Amino acid sequence: LRTLVVRHSTAEYPVVIGSALADSVAGWLRAKKMGPRVVLVSHPELYELFEPQLLTAVSKAGLEVTKISVPSGEQHKSLEEAGLLYEALSGSLVERRTPLLALGGGVIGDLAGFAASTYMRGIPLVHMPTSLLAQVDSSIGGKTAVNHGELKNQIGTFYPPLAVFTDIDLLKTLPQEEIGNGLAEMIKSAVIANPKLFIFLERNIEAVKTTECKVIEEAVYQAASVKAMIVSRDEKEKGPREVLNLGHTIGHAIESVSGFGISHGHAIAAGMVAAARIAYRMGMFAKRDLDRLIHLVRIAGLPVELPVADPLALLAVIKHDKKVLHGAVRMVLPLRLGRVAVRAVEPLLIAEVVGGNEAT
Ligand SMILES: NC(=O)c1ccc[n+]([C@@H]2O[C@H](COP(=O)([O-])OP(=O)(O)OC[C@H]3O[C@@H](n4cnc5c(N)ncnc54)[C@H](O)[C@@H]3O)[C@@H](O)[C@H]2O)c1
Repeated sequence: LRTLVVRHSTAEYPVVIGSALADSVAGWLRAKKMGPRVVLVSHPELYELFEPQLLTAVSKAGLEVTKISVPSGEQHKSLEEAGLLYEALSGSLVERRTPLLALGGGVIGDLAGFAASTYMRGIPLVHMPTSLLAQVDSSIGGKTAVNHGELKNQIGTFYPPLAVFTDIDLLKTLPQEEIGNGLAEMIKSAVIANPKLFIFLERNIEAVKTTECKVIEEAVYQAASVKAMIVSRDEKEKGPREVLNLGHTIGHAIESVSGFGISHGHAIAAGMVAAARIAYRMGMFAKRDLDRLIHLVRIAGLPVELPVADPLALLAVIKHDKKVLHGAVRMVLPLRLGRVAVRAVEPLLIAEVVGGNEAT
């Protein structure tokens, strides 16, 4: 077991990373003495996979479990579903001290986190992330969110959990495409602030893809440590946390132009490579590093070219991005593998790179 610590304005919380963590979660809940009950929120398919081991451990610890089920899919990260969760919490007589254990990927984490942060003005929240993306990214940092109409992730709270239990054994059942989504975020973390992780991924990508125990644990720990470090410096997104948007300016535009038909990981990977090409063209990023990044993204099974047919549509979305200032687009760009900076980029240069005219 390895533990990272995330600090926030009022306290800190542990991110415990290891395997077979059901007993650790149950023991931790009992030790916290938050009452005889715990509310578990997850998807039906995840209950089928993980319920027996978790329930056994929690019952062994002498706690009662109230189960709430939420259908899977981004469309259920909604105010309507949050409303149903409130009703279920109220119906099962959840009290202010009753902990809510969110077992799932980013959708469960964001939705259950939002409900926990608002129900009775906040009940204790514990994350048990089950997707690679949630383990290295969304479970750390205290952001909760639901979507509403066109407002994606725009309704939410900053609400730190009391603890995160990251069990890498749970990744064994994760579909390959979901592994890809997490891998893109892992590569992003490496480029932002962890050159050691970049080299580790270059050497071990096949074992990471197949979630081989020791290798995936090290990769998750290293990537999660980047997120933990950055959010500890900037709990409420006032500045330094902006670097986590590497690949997202162009990545979000790719998702939007494709009508969200392209997976988040693919969009972010292609967006990150495009940002690196821009940095290279601006003389900020070495050709050798650009080639290494392209190679790693490729062997990770992620796209290195922009997966959309219409670069002009892409540019139009980027220009409408909230980061546009006086005609220039603010983008996170790599300076070297393990260091990034925010720079203003001329739209013409973006047009050249997204138009496929880049020199590399
Ligand atoms: N709060 C944050 O800081 C933050 C950061 C990044 C992303 N997000 C949000 O996270 C969400 C995406 O998260 P995600 O990629 O985990 O998607 P997800 O939660 O929808 O999970 C993807 C799919 O994998 C399934 N799944 C999850 N774990 C599994 C397992 N161990 N075995 C088998 N199947 C499993 C889920 O049921 C789902 O069908 C988005 O809504 C995004 O906005 C939040």
